[in-house]
Amino acid sequence: VSTEPKPPAPEEIEEGAAVYTRALLAWYDMVALGLVCPLVWGCPRKVMKRLHDAHVGERHLDLGPGTGFFLRKCRWPVAAPRVVLVDLNAQVLRKASRKLRAFNPKAVRRDVLQPLDLGDEQFDSVGMNMLLHCIPGGMHYKAKVFDQVLPYLAPGGRIFGATVLSEGVDHRKAAPKFLEQVNNDGIFHNRGDSLDQLDAELSARFDDYELTSRGSMGIFSVRVPGGTR
Ligand SMILES: C[S@@+](CC[C@H](N)C(=O)[O-])C[C@H]1O[C@@H](n2cnc3c(N)ncnc32)[C@H](O)[C@@H]1O
Repeated sequence: VSTEPKPPAPEEIEEGAAVYTRALLAWYDMVALGLVCPLVWGCPRKVMKRLHDAHVGERHLDLGPGTGFFLRKCRWPVAAPRVVLVDLNAQVLRKASRKLRAFNPKAVRRDVLQPLDLGDEQFDSVGMNMLLHCIPGGMHYKAKVFDQVLPYLAPGGRIFGATVLSEGVDHRKAAPKFLEQVNNDGIFHNRGDSLDQLDAELSARFDDYELTSRGSMGIFSVRVPGGTR
């Protein structure tokens, strides 16, 4: 966690979100989550569902919700959680809001690396599942997302998510080629992202966190100080 990174070009950041078109979102749950996660990344979606079950709170902020799959499937601590969705892609926000209409979510269009401007909202949990591998600029740059959410976390709040890493994880046979392809296509931006780098960014900010890996996926959860949860 040393030198200040050079920020990626705005178009590159846009690209990381723009790939989630209507067409892609239509097959995302079945193909990306149902097939690619277990078969290529070696991390079945039930692992990420459990991560959500363990950490979602009464007031939840979700960064990069995609189709909202895990928010629909996970076990919430209350029947009517407050749910706020943040994404750079308006199509994602429309789709996730529709799929999650039972929660009447608030949708906010933002780049997660910029101030989120959420007023005086406070959240018990912030999810950022499979978000970091979409963001260009290297781990030190993308980890700034942790700084952007801190003002909105209630005492004892959680931050959690999973991200596909390039190095320091236990790749399945198909993963390295697939990684190269999705980086070439601008779908992922995670060349060089490693488990050690993620650990360094978490430990530079937080005392109470867990980081594990499953297949190619780094899986993290943070508990901020205070509260009773
Ligand atoms: C791979 S999808 C993850 C979807 C969902 N969280 C899941 O676990 O299935 C990544 C999401 O992050 C969003 N995204 C990518 N870069 C972003 C950025 N810089 N700011 C806000 N959202 C971004 C994309 O639009 C997309 O909705």
